[in-house]
Amino acid sequence: MRFRHDNKEEQSGNRPVISPATDAWQPLSDGLAWLRGVCVRREIPTIREDTEMVMRRILEEAQPARILEVGTAIGYSACMMATVLPEAAVTTIEIYDRSFYDAKEAIERLGLTGRIEQHLGDAAEVLPALAEAGRRFDFAFIDAAKSHYRTYFEAALSMMESGGLILCDNLMLGADLTAPGSGDKRHRTSAKRMERFLEDLRQDSRVATDFYECGDGLSVSRIL
Ligand SMILES: C[S@@+](CC[C@H](N)C(=O)[O-])C[C@H]1O[C@@H](n2cnc3c(N)ncnc32)[C@H](O)[C@@H]1O
Repeated sequence: MRFRHDNKEEQSGNRPVISPATDAWQPLSDGLAWLRGVCVRREIPTIREDTEMVMRRILEEAQPARILEVGTAIGYSACMMATVLPEAAVTTIEIYDRSFYDAKEAIERLGLTGRIEQHLGDAAEVLPALAEAGRRFDFAFIDAAKSHYRTYFEAALSMMESGGLILCDNLMLGADLTAPGSGDKRHRTSAKRMERFLEDLRQDSRVATDFYECGDGLSVSRIL
């Protein structure tokens, strides 16, 4: 599946879509292999393997010290990022309390307590609170409610400097498209909002954005 605007981007030669090679994925640790297995068994959405490959490469190149994640689920991507960068601090937000506590257990089991700061609550409220507290980040990974990406993106941007990176996952709404009721009004609203968010991102002169076809669609925006 391709992004709807691929051709336009390729014709303009502007911020081209990149199709990364999906090398054979290997878990970074036994703990992460276990945690991905839990996600699969319990059908908990997590970053896909090829998306993880791309994220690992970007993290290794950028070496951010302060990472913000919106959408913890049970902690797979947070633990993956903390494992790739042993010096980095990860701050992650989850609205669903069961996931929050499952993530807490997983983080402990992987020996990453102290490296990952968890927040339980609606990111639309937690993000402004972090900004108010003067928190700053070098890297943000947005992976929560798909119809609110604009809000999360703006909040993350407000806490970052030039050179910082903001990644957004599930731009193709794959998880939602296969979910029961995917043709319903809520899904259509979500799809429209995502489409508008992508349009805005392409025009946004504050960032330079690449769109990756890996997994369910990933954008990588570098703050100018
Ligand atoms: C796709 S999952 C995150 C997967 C995780 N990043 C990973 O790759 O392992 C999205 C998560 O966002 C959470 N979420 C949804 N809306 C949210 C909100 N408004 N604030 C915070 N978290 C939210 C969901 O409960 C879900 O656990």
